[in-house]
Amino acid sequence: MSDRFPAVTAPLRAIFDEAERALSKVFPPQWNPLLNLGALGFFFYWIIVASGVYLFIFFGTGVNKAFDSVEYMTRDQWYAAGLMRSFHRYASDGLVFVALIHFMREFSLDRYRGVRWFSWLTGVPALMLVYVAGVSGYWLVWDKLAQYVAIVTTEWLDHLPFFGQPVARNFLSPDLLEDRFFTLMIFVHIAIPLIALIVLWLHLQRISRPRINPPRGLAIGGGLALIALAIVDPAVSQGRADLAEVPGAVGLDWFYLGGYPLLENLPGRATWSSALAMLLVVATAPWLPPLRRPAAAKVDLANCNGCTRCVSDCPYNAITMRPRSDDRPFEGEAVVDPAYCVGCGICAGACPTSTPFRRMSDLVPGIDAPDRAIASIRVDADREAARLSEGTRIMIFGCMNAGVAEACRSDSVGIVPLACSGQLPPAFVDYVISRRLADGVIIAGCAENSCLNRRGGAWTTDRVERRRDPRLRKRIPSERVSLVWAGRRGAAKLKAEVEDFAKRLESLGPYRPAWDRKTAPGEPGHADA
Ligand code: HEM
Ligand code: SF4
Ligand code: SF4
Repeated sequence: MSDRFPAVTAPLRAIFDEAERALSKVFPPQWNPLLNLGALGFFFYWIIVASGVYLFIFFGTGVNKAFDSVEYMTRDQWYAAGLMRSFHRYASDGLVFVALIHFMREFSLDRYRGVRWFSWLTGVPALMLVYVAGVSGYWLVWDKLAQYVAIVTTEWLDHLPFFGQPVARNFLSPDLLEDRFFTLMIFVHIAIPLIALIVLWLHLQRISRPRINPPRGLAIGGGLALIALAIVDPAVSQGRADLAEVPGAVGLDWFYLGGYPLLENLPGRATWSSALAMLLVVATAPWLPPLRRPAAAKVDLANCNGCTRCVSDCPYNAITMRPRSDDRPFEGEAVVDPAYCVGCGICAGACPTSTPFRRMSDLVPGIDAPDRAIASIRVDADREAARLSEGTRIMIFGCMNAGVAEACRSDSVGIVPLACSGQLPPAFVDYVISRRLADGVIIAGCAENSCLNRRGGAWTTDRVERRRDPRLRKRIPSERVSLVWAGRRGAAKLKAEVEDFAKRLESLGPYRPAWDRKTAPGEPGHADA
């Protein structure tokens, strides 16, 4: 797949790769915040809801009550409502921050086109709603910052032809502002996050087992960071709003209000047209132009026994089971919805019929990704094996997205490309080693927990470590298999592992099947005996 905007995506991707690498030195792989951005978004969302419910108990809805009630919470009840106020503010900053990084990361990884358009498109209103909720929250405090936000926002809205009377008029003098306005704002501030939650639910509809909870360690760390921020720099108001005065300089929360100086100082026509143009580009990005979609996975009924493994492993909810439509004695059959399928081939890696040991010349599994069929992987493995001539021979099955395996090709290292590491049925490892096509197998893919197809790396690890079906057969010693999650910038890591693995294989000697390993040549029970 080729990027649409390589001039933007390539440097952005390089930055993310570097940041991911740097963070992986501090966090264990599953805790890396960059790999848990969506889950962190949900984490912050729930903290905002919980702290918001508490604050609502004490909040006074009205022009004169709002500021006093927030002051009471901040000063008199600093140990409870005051802390909650700080959690509410910093979690809101956290939510918008991780949502923006998540948005840029998905873009840089080219995970917004083709079938993924749905998650992308629903992400756009989710982010906008987060902004509206945040801005309405600043408004509710009714301090000088709220006054500034109210005036700049309403003057900006007044450029639209929808309002009969200018909304900004309400904020011109103290007599014009009514309590009703605060009732409306509190309604907006509660309703918008609820709508955002519905949109986020939609956002996840096309992906299976979305990670919506961060790992416990990361959640505890995030919670402690919020507590530390709340103590070191508690959220406070900026003096009571006074509509009789023009608000002077106010401190802005740059996460939500970073664009306000522009709204304030540039002509409304310019800011509206740039905002709408940006929205249009972002919302239509998946079709600018559309991705050349890889062919969707195909089910071959003659080989499908209805085991449902492909349904469990597909990361994009693209497969369902339906009652058998032929007369074979199985309950169900797999069906692929091409509108959901990214062509990763992970389903073929899960199918028990994807085994290279099958004698048929045409290796057709129950389900297959036509752009990189299982049969073509066997052809490549056989061809590469025939080419290997020197010393300890290694076969690398390498994910094309990670793309670093090719540099390791040599007379003793064969390379077989995969659509995704999860495409490789463990039977291939068995095939290569037990048929002595190579002395050991490396499976290389995207960096740990960073699989382009979400689950390829995780399923491969579980299958090879015999925790998930289809499992690697026990007759293959684990020392002959190495999993290398090197990622796109991990060429050096993969090369180093190839050298190291070769030494380890050399010390193991040639592969001998288990029955052969128990007895020495010449002993009873040995193949030679
Ligand atoms: C507003 C807060 C947001 C939250 C809480 C959120 C949450 C999530 C979560 C939990 C996932 C699943 C991650 C996984 O398990 O692999 C996800 C996926 C995704 N998100 Fe968001 N998201 C948000 C905003 C956005 C925005 C603004 C965009 C882009 C416009 C976006 C684009 C995507 C895409 C394209 C995927 C699918 C990635 C794939 O196909 O593997 N999200 N999001
Ligand atoms: S190719 Fe990937 S997305 Fe398509 S059905 Fe198979 S596992 Fe699902
Ligand atoms: S994994 Fe293979 S055999 Fe099992 S349901 Fe899917 S296509 Fe059929």
